[in-house]
Amino acid sequence: MCGIVGYIGEKNVYSILVKGLQRLEYRGYDSAGICIANSGLKVYKKKGKVSELESFVASKDIHGSIGIGHTRWATHGEPNDLNAHPHTSMNGHFVLVHNGIIENYAELKKDLSEKGMVFHTDTDTEVLANLIEYYYQQEEVDSAEMAVRVALTKVVGAYGIVVLCNDEPEKMIAARMGSPLVIGIGQGEYFLASDASPIVEYTDSVIYMNDGDVAILEKNSMLLKTVENSAANFKVTKLDLSIGDLDKGDFEHYMLKEIFEQPKTISDTYRGRINPEKNDIVLGGLIDVWDQITAANRIIIIGCGTSWHAALVAEYLIEEYARVPVEVEYASEFRYRKPIIGKGDVVVAISQSGETADTLAALKMAKEKGALILGICNVVGSSIARETDAGVYTHAGTEIGVASTKAFTAQVTVLTLFAFKLAHKKEKIDQQTYELFIEEMLAIPDKVQSILLGHPKIKEVAEKYSEAINALYLGRGYLFPVALEGALKLKEISYIHAEGYAAGEMKHGPIALVDDNLPVVVVSAQDSYYEKVVSNIQEVKARKGNIIAVVTEEDNGLREMANDLFEIPCSHPAVASLLTVVPLQLFAYYIALMRGCDVDQPRNLAKSVTVE
Ligand code: G6P
Repeated sequence: MCGIVGYIGEKNVYSILVKGLQRLEYRGYDSAGICIANSGLKVYKKKGKVSELESFVASKDIHGSIGIGHTRWATHGEPNDLNAHPHTSMNGHFVLVHNGIIENYAELKKDLSEKGMVFHTDTDTEVLANLIEYYYQQEEVDSAEMAVRVALTKVVGAYGIVVLCNDEPEKMIAARMGSPLVIGIGQGEYFLASDASPIVEYTDSVIYMNDGDVAILEKNSMLLKTVENSAANFKVTKLDLSIGDLDKGDFEHYMLKEIFEQPKTISDTYRGRINPEKNDIVLGGLIDVWDQITAANRIIIIGCGTSWHAALVAEYLIEEYARVPVEVEYASEFRYRKPIIGKGDVVVAISQSGETADTLAALKMAKEKGALILGICNVVGSSIARETDAGVYTHAGTEIGVASTKAFTAQVTVLTLFAFKLAHKKEKIDQQTYELFIEEMLAIPDKVQSILLGHPKIKEVAEKYSEAINALYLGRGYLFPVALEGALKLKEISYIHAEGYAAGEMKHGPIALVDDNLPVVVVSAQDSYYEKVVSNIQEVKARKGNIIAVVTEEDNGLREMANDLFEIPCSHPAVASLLTVVPLQLFAYYIALMRGCDVDQPRNLAKSVTVE
């Protein structure tokens, strides 16, 4: 949510900033702006996408080798040119870009207004710019860096900021509290960004800033300290990311590319964790904590959006096979509802980005109460990954499409391995079942590949329903979360109102929506719920709903009733969610495409939600 980029060195800063902003655009695309230090601080900003900023600056002076940029997802103040970042302090001494929320901004604004400071925007960021300038004018404050540090001690909230000062134009000051910032280290140059994507082209040597850190960067020097002015701990790490990961390749959209990558991302996620010779699952990141996990009274899984759906799949798996009570919670609810947790509980935080503010806050709260905290994250070195006691990375690679696809199947892959391993360790399943599960998992990538090959058929069906106003997605058991995820995908990218429901609950409300205009997507597999699902669908059929059924090749019940079919290969029900979700991802994609929607950057959404 909001992307930041900065550069200090010898290169042409404009192209670094613009390329960086394009890579970060998935984090926010309401407006974009840059500031270049060149005989003063020159600020250019524009409502809309980075491309609009580019047209706007085409005739402007963009020379220089020091600068900062920002792509915004609006929180305070509507998206317009004025509210776009960078923001300039009242007397023009400071220009800054900010990701996060200054919670006490109203109080600070009132106070600064009373002291005579003037504001031109509705943003919390301008308040921070003026606050820094206010301290800069105090006698005891002798540098821009000190003004930044002192101002930050007055701030409540989350921030990742990069600041330029026109009295010290050869310096870039960055600070982090709750919103990520990565420093890239080059030869006589430094980069700064919200994630590594703008940096990877230039260097693979990075530092992930910690909360409370302030970095003072000059072309040939870097100083990392804390807000309190003591030395900060940091570690230089090597990026595990290549520039190729950030390209769309031959695909029209990132989302389509990411859907098609799933055979690989699923196998990348289990590779090295399934030992086919020994018929065993080894989750290296959990080795030291298995005793605590197997002794747990219960497992609480938290997440948001798609990650929450993956958590629901895990609830079914862990309870059925490992027989450990599981609770799944929205992180945003869990963190505020005073839950009863303590020693003996295991809390698993699931997050693609590893930066979701609610998930991060919820896990910190559970940690304080003494629970063991595990993480399942995709982004290496992310805040959630760093806060956990132990965890397992999904190896889905960079996910850029705002609607999550390959991250979901990678999360479900890890959670499925976790459930099987736990069941085996607790001796709730025998060796034969354990080995069968392993075989089933190893067969998934080829089966996903065969579903992907059927994409022209899915596109044809999507064409029939692209004008729909509402849609209902139904499933039971493991496939109930898939119904939720299918509905979310459609809603997110095509703006069609879609609801996911447990098929058995349909008669308690959603059935009232069914008529001959309503597409009803039913997700099924050859599992113990199948007959029940067939009965539920009879009820839809009787009311003339349009049935689109995800069925296995062996199905001989639903296919007779459905108007349209998405066929998937057979599998054990425990892994069926990994297959059934794929046609639903493609269905949503093609519908959005036909409706002319911006598939990769749907309106109002952001990929990484760093505000609560
Ligand atoms: C946003 C994204 C979703 C994602 C959710 C949780 O809403 O648009 O795709 O599922 O955040 O994100 P996380 O990174 O924690 O998985």
